[in-house]
Amino acid sequence: MSSPMSWNDQEVRAAFPALAQSDNGVPRLYADAPGGTQVAGRVLERMREALVEHCANDGGVFRTSRLTEERMLAAHATAATFLGAANAQEVVFGLNSTSLLFHFSRMLARDWQAGDEIVVSRMDHDANIAPWLIAAEERGVTVRWLEFDTTTYQYRYDSLPGLLGPRTRLIACNHASNFLGTINDVGRIVAAGRAAGAVTVVDAVQSAPHFAINAARIGCDLLVTSPYKYFGPHAGLAYIRTELADRLRALKVRPSPQTMPYKHAPGTPSFEAQLGTVGAIEHLAWLGERFGGALASAPLRARIERGLAAAGRHEEALANRFLSVARELPQVRIFGIDDPAHVSGRVPTFSFTVGRHPASAVAEAFARRNIFVWSGSFYAYEIAGVLGVRDTGGVVRVGFAHYNTSGEVDSIAAVLRELAASG
Ligand SMILES: Cc1ncc(COP(=O)(O)O)c(C=O)c1O
Repeated sequence: MSSPMSWNDQEVRAAFPALAQSDNGVPRLYADAPGGTQVAGRVLERMREALVEHCANDGGVFRTSRLTEERMLAAHATAATFLGAANAQEVVFGLNSTSLLFHFSRMLARDWQAGDEIVVSRMDHDANIAPWLIAAEERGVTVRWLEFDTTTYQYRYDSLPGLLGPRTRLIACNHASNFLGTINDVGRIVAAGRAAGAVTVVDAVQSAPHFAINAARIGCDLLVTSPYKYFGPHAGLAYIRTELADRLRALKVRPSPQTMPYKHAPGTPSFEAQLGTVGAIEHLAWLGERFGGALASAPLRARIERGLAAAGRHEEALANRFLSVARELPQVRIFGIDDPAHVSGRVPTFSFTVGRHPASAVAEAFARRNIFVWSGSFYAYEIAGVLGVRDTGGVVRVGFAHYNTSGEVDSIAAVLRELAASG
């Protein structure tokens, strides 16, 4: 291990071509990371390579087809390292997380019987709820809910024993909330689910940009991520435990291979998105070398872990800086952990309201200054319902990634102060 370099905003930002842009002389301030991040330059290089140097379908005997296949298989291996999977056979690329979950829900529900049960969670994005609700309805399966506490913004872990039983076929839960920011103890939920004999599903879409995912350690059967949330292209990337991948009868055309990584990936994939995802993972590994003290010769997993750890330290400082201002403004109501002592229990995604300002008006006030933030409820349909903001226009969401700076947090804080004064 070499000694970690101190974080350098300029160098990090130079790795993202989009960050240099401004509009009429006003720089863009991207605080919309939970909706989708900016793309690292390495991603563009990899996608260009896929589209220019070997653009072909896989399975042919000629050069570009062979190269496509070789790079596609290598992309699965790189993704396996990123996800903490045992090998490339446990990796599935797809269009996005939502379609991957719908795809697997259809296969999983095939052997559910009327009277069986599933558990879904109130803290999930609807992508990890609706597919299971629809499948349950079709099969006559009872749905139970894992709730969260509205003061601590944590799952009600104590309710797990009462939710699970001999007929529980599946439990689906969230790793980090796209609304509350809470980081959840998915290992605990998965262990309880497995003990009951249920298939366990984890939505890691919002955790993957902020810390290293280790699907094998979590112990789940299925886990989804979306590379466009971690500096890559629009795509979905899932881990599937070998036992489950083998057991499921694939939804596929007859001539295509029954073996992984083809088995659960119907049709021609976006090879360019797969390579772009490799570029995003290489970016994280570069962070590890540059700011995490990892040697360039260290294994990829170690470099990714160190890169995300360095990014995480930087993000935690941004989160504390944001909280120190937001907490001193009585008009700002944060929905999520806001105690700086517990900031490590959340990702830097903050949902809030400002006095009586409609959330959309707050987002527009930011937009006028070329600051990009979201308003609404971000498909966290159940959370919005529990918190009573589903029909009120929702909340404002400011989310940081490692390319954000403390100066940007200060710019956001200045607008927040202005809005609070008038709200
Ligand atoms: C936690 C979470 N899960 C799932 C999704 C859906 O991901 P995708 O757009 O890849 O379908 C999102 C998107 O915002 C999300 O934040």
